[in-house]
Amino acid sequence: MARFYISTPIYYVNDAPHLGHAYTTIAADALARYHRAVGDDTRLLTGTDEYGLKVEQAAAARGLQPIELADRVVERFRSTWAHLDIAHDDFIRTTEQRHTHVVQELWRRMEASGDIYKGKYEGWYCVACEAYYPESELLEGRLCPTHKTPATWLSEPTYFFRMSRYQDALLHHFERHPTFVQPEGYKNEVVSFVKSGLRDLSISRTTFRWGVPVPGDEEHVVYVWFDALTNYMSALGPVGGELHRRYWPATCHLIGKDILRFHAVYWPCMLLSARLPLPETVVAHGWWTVRGEKISKSMPATRVDPNRLADDIGVDAVRYYLLREVPLGLDGDFTYENLIGRYNAELAHDLGNLVSRALTVAEKFAGGVVPPVQSRRAEAAHAELSEVADRVIGEAAGHYRAFAPSRALESIWRLVGETNRYINNTQPWRMAKSGAQAAELDHTIRMSLEAIACAARMLAPVMPRTAVQIIHLVGGTAGLAGSWPSAARFGQELAAGAQVGKSQILFPRIDEERQAALLDQWIPKDARPAAPGAEPDPAPEPSSKAKAKATSKAKPSKASGLEAAGPEVVTFDEFGRMDLRVAEVVEAFAIPGATKLLRLVLDIGEAERRQVVAGIAEAYQPEQLIGRRVIFLANLKPATIRGVTSQGMILAAGAERVVGLSALDRDVPPGTKVR
Ligand code: MSP
Repeated sequence: MARFYISTPIYYVNDAPHLGHAYTTIAADALARYHRAVGDDTRLLTGTDEYGLKVEQAAAARGLQPIELADRVVERFRSTWAHLDIAHDDFIRTTEQRHTHVVQELWRRMEASGDIYKGKYEGWYCVACEAYYPESELLEGRLCPTHKTPATWLSEPTYFFRMSRYQDALLHHFERHPTFVQPEGYKNEVVSFVKSGLRDLSISRTTFRWGVPVPGDEEHVVYVWFDALTNYMSALGPVGGELHRRYWPATCHLIGKDILRFHAVYWPCMLLSARLPLPETVVAHGWWTVRGEKISKSMPATRVDPNRLADDIGVDAVRYYLLREVPLGLDGDFTYENLIGRYNAELAHDLGNLVSRALTVAEKFAGGVVPPVQSRRAEAAHAELSEVADRVIGEAAGHYRAFAPSRALESIWRLVGETNRYINNTQPWRMAKSGAQAAELDHTIRMSLEAIACAARMLAPVMPRTAVQIIHLVGGTAGLAGSWPSAARFGQELAAGAQVGKSQILFPRIDEERQAALLDQWIPKDARPAAPGAEPDPAPEPSSKAKAKATSKAKPSKASGLEAAGPEVVTFDEFGRMDLRVAEVVEAFAIPGATKLLRLVLDIGEAERRQVVAGIAEAYQPEQLIGRRVIFLANLKPATIRGVTSQGMILAAGAERVVGLSALDRDVPPGTKVR
């Protein structure tokens, strides 16, 4: 049995939990849940960072003792994690005794290595970062480069950690463990930082008292980052104790890119000095903005409360959106419209419809129970479904293991799509009418229920409630631990005769009216853009028509709830009339007065440029698009939209609202034909 010990950062208690905190914690939770599902000895740690000047000042500003503030805010973190279904195995507070002991033990070990010496520190300090900055890194006016607030000149006696000593050892470690820092781009950043020269680190403070006392010198408290980083180990109890032996070194510290240097440089150097093993990986994720703005206390509109979102749209929908929207490692921009767009397209439409259709079929034609297994048939549709399931089981596992939950979800959606197609193609309602062999009909129903159970199990790390609900609905029983599906057993999970639940709507579609009501509640009045729906749908004409057609067909008809035949059939020749090519976005602009549209200039190969108007402004900022390669329809009749000529159309996903752009999975030059 493999071991998987994953941590989130510990959160400062001067701030209430917001979307950014929720993202890290949900991602870590999903990865841990995957590892539990494959039977690994898994441990998920989260907690709070309670010492330091920042917290001391925040408490003083409220007329509280630091511990009083901490006690209050910790409860908010705990309740938020409970609300978001975070299944952590431990929650560490740095003010606990178990933590103090290990911080002091680490200090002594580093001292014993001859790596701690006393000196004096003078420099520019940013309280918000709890870090010194060399003057060269400060912005004009001596502002902190991260917070843009004035740095303070501090001069104090301090203990230093001889970090410079570990520069070569650390570079050597990076070489021998190429996956130590992930994703790759972040690794390069860290390597060049270390190569530029490591300086000794000031690791104690005398100007305030709110910290772990330095062993043997009570005048000093341990620098808050030294103490905070140690939480990953102190939560396991004494060094050398049972939990420590079982789980150290950690498998993964999942963190935001803002605190990469502390985790990928300072912490490993501390461990090298203390003669303790280094964590296996440090995985950095990107930074979320909210409607293009940095999340900040001074901008209430950016302070999205994950609790509220979960109340209004469902916990699993929030978890799904955050993990699906942005590949781990990249930055993302949160918009409510995008959240609703994905909810409607992927949860209400793709997944929700699939489950309700399959249940209706089972109820009508199999007496509401799981039909018995029939010998596996060779018909193309059946074979294709199990092939896709086999492939997706392997792919999704690989993506979860590689810290890529968004890609795992993409794979799982291939199975969801394939199962929808399977029901369309096999048409069980026709089979029933035509009096086809009962065995054939049973087999089809059984396979669709099995495929849904299989998809639900793979979805469980991200959407645990929905997964359990779906598994029960299709007649399954087992819990989630150790339940990752096996390709070899595909089609044999459910017990024949088990009761299948009544067809139901898992994710009620959010219509325009409800969307307007939600946006009204969510977006503070002063930060509200033009009323939703005030503009006509800006998606270029033909695509919106084609999409409207496809979606109206894909909705189950009221009469039977079953005849969702999918888009109408086109011949290969009809398809061949479209001039589809790879295009690269070279310029992107907002269109004044049009909140949903962007003007793009595309390189479409052979030195040709085209201008298009795309209805993607709610999903993308212009600057996010530069350099992106997309699929482009070049022979679409030009049209004038909002006074701008549009010469073609880029392909995007999303039934009514764009939720993603078309993309190529490798470097294909502009102009290349797409077929
Ligand atoms: N206390 C330190 C971490 C010590 S770990 C030994 C700290 N705390 S924090 O509360 O300010 O932020 C913790 C983490 O929250 C960030 O690293 C990041 O993972 C997450 N995020 C905070 N804001 C975020 C966004 N806007 N977007 C994505 N994640 C964000 O730093």
